[in-house]
Amino acid sequence: MVLAGCGGRHNWLAAAGEEARAVETLFWIVLVGAGVIWALVVGLAVYAHRAEAKPHREREARRFILWGGVALPVLVVGGLLIWGLLILRDITADDGALTVRVDGERWWWRVIYDTPEGPVTTANEIRLPLGERALFRLTADDVIHSFWVPALGGKMDMIPGRETTLALTPRRLGNWGGLCAEFCGGAHALMRFDAIVMEPDDFAAWLAQEAQPARVAMDDPGFAIFAEEGCGACHAIRGTEAQGPVGPDLTHLASRDKLGAGIYDMTPENIARWITETDAMKPDIDMPSYPGLRGARLDTLVSFLMSLE
Ligand code: CUA
Repeated sequence: MVLAGCGGRHNWLAAAGEEARAVETLFWIVLVGAGVIWALVVGLAVYAHRAEAKPHREREARRFILWGGVALPVLVVGGLLIWGLLILRDITADDGALTVRVDGERWWWRVIYDTPEGPVTTANEIRLPLGERALFRLTADDVIHSFWVPALGGKMDMIPGRETTLALTPRRLGNWGGLCAEFCGGAHALMRFDAIVMEPDDFAAWLAQEAQPARVAMDDPGFAIFAEEGCGACHAIRGTEAQGPVGPDLTHLASRDKLGAGIYDMTPENIARWITETDAMKPDIDMPSYPGLRGARLDTLVSFLMSLE
């Protein structure tokens, strides 16, 4: 079980970001520090016990208990506490070249990039430019979640009614993956996301694309089905009349790698199943299943959703 956290992209002991590196270093120092305290305290206790047996050395024994049992642990633990607080201050500091607001929902992530041209909304996928410090402003809709990208840094609680902050400065390209680290209900274990670190130019191009409204022909038969089934009451597709604020924004759905908050590949088959067997795909979520949608009607809707790139 101890070694279960030591492999794959969620490995916080193979830091891919500055903040994770600081936490990783602190972990090793604490481990070594705790080992030193343990060895010294036990050593001094044994020494004091032996000295105490001899009446003329009682004062010496008391001195060792005082230094070994009180002063040494206070100094070491106090030093580690101050260091830890300095790291905490740095990784929660209120600044960054890029601001990303993430709202924890049951059980997915609403992601909003604050850009000079206005907010850009997406979901369940966070892309970051290599080497730039990104500031996350974290909130929650109705229950407590915890935002964690183990390889990059964190974690930080997301609390309804208040905002917490967390900085991440990626130092390695890759898809590092993130997850909810606070038990938040039925689909907690299925509340994941992709955290993709890109070259700054690629990131800028991606963000510019995300900022665009969807290109939907007004006579698109798939969009007509989307509207008839009432999908737009919950989901937004920017550039159309679908402006539902409840579920994930679908404007560029097919540009995302994963479906259902980081748990399924974005394929037509999975989207079709997601619509018709939602409960089986992800228990406990708010979206109802549409088992009556099938055949050509379902295919047309799925093709339309897959066209939202
Ligand atoms: Cu959200 Cu656990």
